[in-house]
Parts: sequence; structure tokens; C-alpha cells
Amino acid sequence: MSLSHELALTRRTGHPAPTSASPRPSRVRVVGPAGAARPDLRDEDVGEVEGHERDWVAELHVTDLPHGLFPRLGVAFVRRWHRAHLASPHGTCLVARVGGVPVGFALCSLDRRAHVDWLLAHRRRELALPAAAALLRRPRLAVDFLRTRGARYARRLAGRGARPAAAAAPPTAVAVLDAIVVEEFARGRGVGTALVEAFLRRAVEAGAERAELVTKAGAAGAAGFYERRGWTRTGSHTDRDGEEVVTFRVDLTADHRTTTGRPTLRLAPAR
Ligand SMILES: CC(C)(COP(=O)(O)OP(=O)(O)OC[C@H]1O[C@@H](n2cnc3c(N)ncnc32)[C@H](O)[C@@H]1OP(=O)(O)O)[C@@H](O)C(=O)NCCC(=O)NCCS
Repeated sequence: MSLSHELALTRRTGHPAPTSASPRPSRVRVVGPAGAARPDLRDEDVGEVEGHERDWVAELHVTDLPHGLFPRLGVAFVRRWHRAHLASPHGTCLVARVGGVPVGFALCSLDRRAHVDWLLAHRRRELALPAAAALLRRPRLAVDFLRTRGARYARRLAGRGARPAAAAAPPTAVAVLDAIVVEEFARGRGVGTALVEAFLRRAVEAGAERAELVTKAGAAGAAGFYERRGWTRTGSHTDRDGEEVVTFRVDLTADHRTTTGRPTLRLAPAR
């Protein structure tokens, strides 16, 4: 039985009913037998996030991947952050849909350096003010923030976090998988793999030479997921929040392109 047949629409409390003019994404849950189905997502089932899906993405990000500073600032801030991210010519968010219903997202930047520079140049104040307001409402997080990130953010806000003059060699274009979440009830069916592959194809199309990501070490992260899908572990370290994290990379070399330039990435081992 296909995944789409095994998924049935259901509403989660708190979601307003869809209108015919602007259908809101619904949460879905698996109601069929779990574990047996092979992925049946097609390339066209993964695409850029649509306007009416953005609130769902922000909520899922905060509830299911509350790592790092931004998700802990709350859904309202995450919505602003995602909006800024998507306004950047180097930021994107891919959504996987089953029967038109979103079941997972991947927030990515296709050129990390250019993306960060764009955000600092165009969205610095728009993000700093709501972040400060969110911190004021969360005193314990504010203390944590000052201890772990205060000096760095102060330099950036003052415009002193600018990069040194570019070196002679052009920098490597690095695409980053910033966040990926699949609805819990849809996991284990290939949705995450489809999102990662779509991200890598997008990265190749954008001219990235390398893709990178960071995930928590141990059960709280997804290192095994990336290892099984062909990513190379490049190191581990303790992050600003004192969490052990693991870094991964994929080199997007010419091997991954056809002669027409279309990427032919298939990193997941065939089963
Ligand atoms: C990680 C995640 C995106 C994978 O999505 P998914 O749709 O379940 O992935 P797929 O169905 O394509 O792949 C499932 C496979 O990955 C493995 N896997 C999934 N999550 C894993 C994890 N956290 N650690 C190790 N392996 C994991 C499954 O065991 C399964 O293995 P198999 O292919 O050998 O059977 C999803 O589990 C998720 O949203 N997790 C919560 C958020 C999160 O941790 N995101 C990653 C942060 S970097």
C-alpha cells in the first residue's frame, strides 16, 4: 500500500478549518500498518514552501527541533526569521507533501556566506528588535544568551562582525541544511530522504561545491540518518549551548552532475 493511501487527514486541535480560498495545511497521521511501505514520494511532491504553509513550518520547527537560540525565542520570532530567510536570494525552504498535505520541511541556505551577508545587510534590525523583545519575556534565556552569544551579537549589531577582506581565491560555495523535520507520524517512510535529496539537487543547481549540516550527537540528533544516506562525518564539538554536536558534509563534485548539468544525486543506498 502506498504512503499516500496510508496517510489519512486528521485535524490537530488549534488549527483553524481550511477555507476554499486558502486551504491551510492539515496535520496528518498514519492510520495504516506502519513500517512496511516503501517511499512513494515523487520529485514533484517536494517543492518550495507555499505561503499558506509557512505557519505550519514555523510551528513544527519550534515543537520538533527546538535546538539553538532562535526556536527558543518562540513561534512568532521563528515566523519572522523564516520570512527573512526566504526573502534572501540564497535561502529556501522545501516542503514534502503527500496528497497535497505537507508532512515535512527542510530549511536550507544555498550559499552560506552570501546568505549570512545578505541577512546582515538587509534584515539585521528587523530580526534584532523582535529577538530582544522575545528575550525580555524569557529572562532565563536572556541570561543564557548574554553568556553564550552576547559579545558576538553586539559586534554584529554594531557592524563590526564584518568579514575580513576577501582572500585571493574565491570562497567555496557551501550549501547548508539548516533544519529538517518530518511530522512524527510520517517518519520512516522516505520523506526525510526525499527532502535531503531535493536539497542536494537544489544546491548543485545553485552552484554549491559542498553541502554541510550540524546535528546533535547521540539520540537527540540524527547522525545515523545522514551516515546511512552517504554524508561524511567531518568532526564533533561542543556548541555554544554546551551540547555535543556532529558535523557532516557532502562534496558536490562534478561526479554528481550529468553532462547537461542536471544533478543526478542519489545518495541513499538502494534497498
Ligand atoms: C531525521 C528525520 C528528518 C528523518 O525523517 P524520516 O522521514 O523519518 O526519514 P526517512 O524515512 O527518509 O529515513 C528513515 C531512516 O532514517 C533513520 N533515522 C531517522 N531518524 C533518525 C535518527 N534521529 N537517528 C538515526 N537514524 C534515524 C531511520 O531509522 C530509518 O532508517 P532505515 O532507512 O535504515 O530504515 C526525522 O526523523 C525527524 O524529523 N526527526 C526530528 C527532527 C530532527 O532530528 N531533525 C534532524 C536535525 S539535524
